[in-house]
Amino acid sequence: MSQVCGGIFTSHVPGIGNAIARGLQQEPYWKPFFDGFNPVHQWLAREQPDVAVVFYNDHGLNFFLDKMPTFAIGAASEYRHEDEGWGIAFQRPFIGHPALSWHIIEEVVESEFDPVTCQSMVVDHAVAVPYELCWPGTDPFPVRLVPIAINTVQHPLPSPKRCLAFGRAVGRALKSWKGGEKIVVFGTGGLSHQLEGRRAGFINKDYDHFCLDNIGPNPEALLGHSSLDIVELAGSQGVEILNWIAARGALTGDVVELASNYHVPISNTAAATVLFENRELVPA
Ligand code: DHB
Ligand code: FE
Repeated sequence: MSQVCGGIFTSHVPGIGNAIARGLQQEPYWKPFFDGFNPVHQWLAREQPDVAVVFYNDHGLNFFLDKMPTFAIGAASEYRHEDEGWGIAFQRPFIGHPALSWHIIEEVVESEFDPVTCQSMVVDHAVAVPYELCWPGTDPFPVRLVPIAINTVQHPLPSPKRCLAFGRAVGRALKSWKGGEKIVVFGTGGLSHQLEGRRAGFINKDYDHFCLDNIGPNPEALLGHSSLDIVELAGSQGVEILNWIAARGALTGDVVELASNYHVPISNTAAATVLFENRELVPA
């Protein structure tokens, strides 16, 4: 049987990729953020997951405003990152897991979700930066990827409630997968940030701490706000917390927080990293 061993929730600021490419991890500006990955590295070395299921949002590299799926699931044998205009294209390929992707697609459709299925797909910084943070310099990456994109860009956005339910449907699919793999779930993006307009640079530490305090033990607490409420509370890109909410839904066991790091700012963003262990509940 497969096992969902835990969750890694992290911001995905493109500037982090730039800092990695330039070797700035120990610089005073970056160190407090990168140090948050020390416990993640130790945990990954211990757990050695085989597969990463990554809930993220595409920022226009793969989907643009003219065609924006609410939920999209990759089912390719390989994914690549391309230059998004930052001058960086990460070279390491992301090996896919089409059989698991199709199992997830089958199961979530059975649960009455209607994802777009993507047999060819490029992935942007929202996948590439968390991978670079988790497995620096490891070539090839030691995990196979199932990318799951949620629209946090083109309104109307899915509701937090819908994202949690979608994540739970993915979690049921992972539980019923007969392969023997160890699976780690990612939620990327957030926390509060707004990059454009009059509120550019907007941060809301109170809302961020509310999310950090509740996402593990009580994710339902995050359903009290609509997606538009979250835009107001956390900024127009802070609504990327929807990816965290869905990812949390895919952790169906006893969820225990092992590490948490919150650092403001990284490129106008309240950056956070949280590591959860998912202890499977043993039926009585
Ligand atoms: C930036 C971009 C992002 O996608 C994000 O989540 C945070 C910050 C940026 O361009 O700085
Ligand atoms: Fe983003």
